[in-house]
Amino acid sequence: MAASAKSVLITGFEVSVLQFVHLSNMRSCSSGIGKALAFEFHHRGLRVFAASRSLASIKDLSDAGIDTVQLDPASASSINAAREVVSKATGGKLDILVNNAGQWLEKPAIETEIDKVKALFDINVFAVMAIINDFIPLLIAAKGGGTIVNHGSMVRSLPHPFTAAYNASKSAVSQYSHTLRIELEPLGVKVIELVSGRVATGLITVPTLDESSIYKPLEPILQKRAREAETQQKAEVFAKAAVKSILEKPGNVEVFKGNLATIAWVITTFAPRWAIHAVFRSTVGLGDGKLRGAIAERAVARSKH
Ligand SMILES: NC(=O)c1ccc[n+]([C@@H]2O[C@H](COP(=O)([O-])OP(=O)(O)OC[C@H]3O[C@@H](n4cnc5c(N)ncnc54)[C@H](OP(=O)(O)O)[C@@H]3O)[C@@H](O)[C@H]2O)c1
Repeated sequence: MAASAKSVLITGFEVSVLQFVHLSNMRSCSSGIGKALAFEFHHRGLRVFAASRSLASIKDLSDAGIDTVQLDPASASSINAAREVVSKATGGKLDILVNNAGQWLEKPAIETEIDKVKALFDINVFAVMAIINDFIPLLIAAKGGGTIVNHGSMVRSLPHPFTAAYNASKSAVSQYSHTLRIELEPLGVKVIELVSGRVATGLITVPTLDESSIYKPLEPILQKRAREAETQQKAEVFAKAAVKSILEKPGNVEVFKGNLATIAWVITTFAPRWAIHAVFRSTVGLGDGKLRGAIAERAVARSKH
């Protein structure tokens, strides 16, 4: 690797045991987007730092000549230690920071425990801010100014039902990225939001609703929706397109890749909100009178207990 090679740090790699079991049952699914991005940046000649909570889970990356760094996005001291490692290795600079680590949470909004929402925001939102705050001196020091890539989602502005907290976390990342972009302009650091559509990874698991959930009648529809998400674009295909855009079109402040991402942009830009709601209502059975009635009955029955 040439000493002058651009450097990139990517967070979020590990496939947990649960995810691994899930992945092995899914023919079309690859491992996470982080791994695919790392291999693609490496292929394009960049010096890649793969930052994961568990180095053991990314041994295949170090075997391929990619630098691996331990980083827990939820821990300030871990972020700080990772920054020290990268700084030492690069002489105090970083060209691209990809905040990719993220969690999924699927549950009816009114039945989601606030502790779970807070844990989700810790990773999807607050860790993004903490990592940027810590790594910013390295990005400012990069020749020509560094680039921050925040991994958002098309659901940032779509009412995808039963993932309200996740959608809200991606809206927060989006708004944060837009504001940060303007603040960092004088420092020469660019901010890109990856507004991704569906990609086949272990992120989305098939949900089971509590027996007491008032939305229990919708469970088969939600399970079908999750299984359909499994058949989407492979992470490697996504990574190739995303990295091409990040490296070759740095002026693009939003990058739409993954299944349905472009359609989502068209819908959110041009369709009226009532039409968008009608579409999403129907995708989970909330437009069906019988199902709505069953949910309302369960809510009434529950309120009597
Ligand atoms: N797959 C999709 O359809 C899709 C669509 C739109 C956006 N995205 C976004 O793409 C990013 C990557 O997701 P993916 O699909 O590749 O899913 P993934 O395989 O589950 O990867 C996400 C990674 O984030 C890290 N992470 C998850 N929970 C964490 C926690 N509690 N604490 C610390 N780190 C945690 C883990 O990496 P380590 O354990 O290695 O640190 C995990 O492997 C996420 O931000 C996701 O929201 C995905």
